Amino acid sequence: MTTSADAPRLADTHLWPIEVTPNDALVPAGRRAEILANPGFGQHYTDHMVRATWTEGEGWHDAELVPYQPLTFDPATNFLHYGQAIFEGLKAYKHADGSIWLFRPLKNATRFNNSARRLAMAELPAELFIASIAALVSADRDWTPSGAEASLYLRPFMLGTERGLGVRPSREYQYLLIASPAGAYFSKGIHPVTVWLSDDYVRAAPGGTGEAKCAGNYAASLVAQAEAAQHGCDQVVWLDAAEHRWIEEMGGMNLYFVYGSGDQARIMTPSLTGALLPGVTRDSLLTVAQDLGIRAEEGRISVEEWKAGCASREITEVFACGTAAVVTPVGEVKSRMGNWTVGNGGAGEVTMRLRQALLDIQTGAVPDKHAWMHKIIDAD
Ligand code: COI
Repeated sequence: MTTSADAPRLADTHLWPIEVTPNDALVPAGRRAEILANPGFGQHYTDHMVRATWTEGEGWHDAELVPYQPLTFDPATNFLHYGQAIFEGLKAYKHADGSIWLFRPLKNATRFNNSARRLAMAELPAELFIASIAALVSADRDWTPSGAEASLYLRPFMLGTERGLGVRPSREYQYLLIASPAGAYFSKGIHPVTVWLSDDYVRAAPGGTGEAKCAGNYAASLVAQAEAAQHGCDQVVWLDAAEHRWIEEMGGMNLYFVYGSGDQARIMTPSLTGALLPGVTRDSLLTVAQDLGIRAEEGRISVEEWKAGCASREITEVFACGTAAVVTPVGEVKSRMGNWTVGNGGAGEVTMRLRQALLDIQTGAVPDKHAWMHKIIDAD
């Protein structure tokens, strides 16, 4: 049994009753094996999903595991118009003995509720969040791929489902959980990305929704992502809203800057100002770096400092991090201030060490000394 501040006890997963209606038309085992051999990211879904309803007065009720199926909503449903829609992303990992584990799930449960509060939505008890995942992974455990970069990606989300066009918080919510077998997030695998520094668009402003994981943030990012692509870049890097000068995030991922190399290497990630998403991977890497003897800190860096730091070779590597893609090196930067290369443009040594150290914890290759892993399925 895992015990730590951010790993609820396994027993907690049984605290919330979830009614089970099994799918009697499972994806055939042969087709599932074909999918698991090359799952991609977010292309295939498992046989079941979980749903629960919140209504004023009653709170959360009717939590159930049901066959994966389309949703039906009245055209005047709140979230379709006013965007009360939040989500999370976390992964289940199959270890060598067949057991299945989550990585710091309570962090996601807490962030989900932070997002809910920012969007004036109902909060979801952590017990229901964890129990829903335990129920789905248990029903669809055969969908959990094994292998170095493979996991079962879990997507909890919540929608304002009251019917009505008045602009006010919905008085009814639906919580849903789906699962998707996942390989590498970027189709090129661990390949350094080229980034475009966006000065036409901002992702988030102080007091806005930047630290919430809400659907609208992602919708608003797409035009900047398209602009990045027009400049031949893979991803957009966001600057602060006030000065368009301070580096915030890359696409939907946090960023880290590596200064120096070897024993002298240190890493820095932009501080959480309220405009940045507090990534679970970002947070974990601050600790993993220290485990590896790499000094890690939060700070800030401007566009000019990034460019000058690469020219002077003080900045040796830059990488992005997030649940989906884990750790991804940044090789080239393009902007209206000019273009430059980070280090030699390849995947740096510190980046790859951190990436491997984190994956080793998640996949059970090394002892989980921070008690971050939460077992949901026992060994075979
Ligand atoms: C993540 O890095 O986990 C993300 O949030 C990206 C996701 C929206 C696909």
